[in-house]
Amino acid sequence: MTATRHPSVVLCEHALVEHNLGIIRHKDTPVENFRLAMARLGTLLVQEATRDLPLHPTTVETPLGQTPVNSLSSQIPIILTPILRAGLVLSDQALSLLPQASVYHIGLYRDEETLKPVTYYNKLPKEIDYANARVFILDPMLATGGSAIAAVEILKDMGVQEENLRLLCIIAAPEGIEAVSAQFPGIKVYTAAVDERLNENGFIVPGLGDAGDRTFGTMD
Ligand code: PRP
Repeated sequence: MTATRHPSVVLCEHALVEHNLGIIRHKDTPVENFRLAMARLGTLLVQEATRDLPLHPTTVETPLGQTPVNSLSSQIPIILTPILRAGLVLSDQALSLLPQASVYHIGLYRDEETLKPVTYYNKLPKEIDYANARVFILDPMLATGGSAIAAVEILKDMGVQEENLRLLCIIAAPEGIEAVSAQFPGIKVYTAAVDERLNENGFIVPGLGDAGDRTFGTMD
């Protein structure tokens, strides 16, 4: 089975996704254009990943009469979890589509030697109905999967149900998809692209380089 046909993967296929992938992959794209293209990809991914959020039927009065409508239920918390720091490039877009969402940041970086995730920020509130929450983890790159797995473990420890967790990334490596789905088969990975492989330094090939550095202009 190819990674794009992996049962855990939802590939976001759209002409605008293709176009913006071309911008972020280009090594000479300036930081402002890179950030804007990432943001547009974030909007497209969030739109896809929220397609089946639970709706609550109700009735409203239009200026001309009554009509049934469907609205997001206020009883079901919606949580966005950007993984610092690159995930921040996706959270503004997610919030513009889901203004009622809470944003719970998780700080993780990947140790450059071991490639293992190191947690440096976690202030998730305790008194939340995590069991019913719909949670969207935002991180542009899924490489080894270590960071995503660490974030999922934190959220599952709080009581989030695996089937209510979705991982949104712009580019995924087959190795990361395998690692996440082996440990959490109920989690769907929404991605704009599944690339060839990881290189010996744990970078996605062909990928786009370091998403955090290119988003925030911190390249050496
Ligand atoms: C990158 C990326 C992911 C992680 C992916 O973050 O944004 O969080 O690596 O790698 P993994 O799947 O192998 O864990 P990085 O450590 O560069 O931190 P940054 O976002 O602060 O730049």
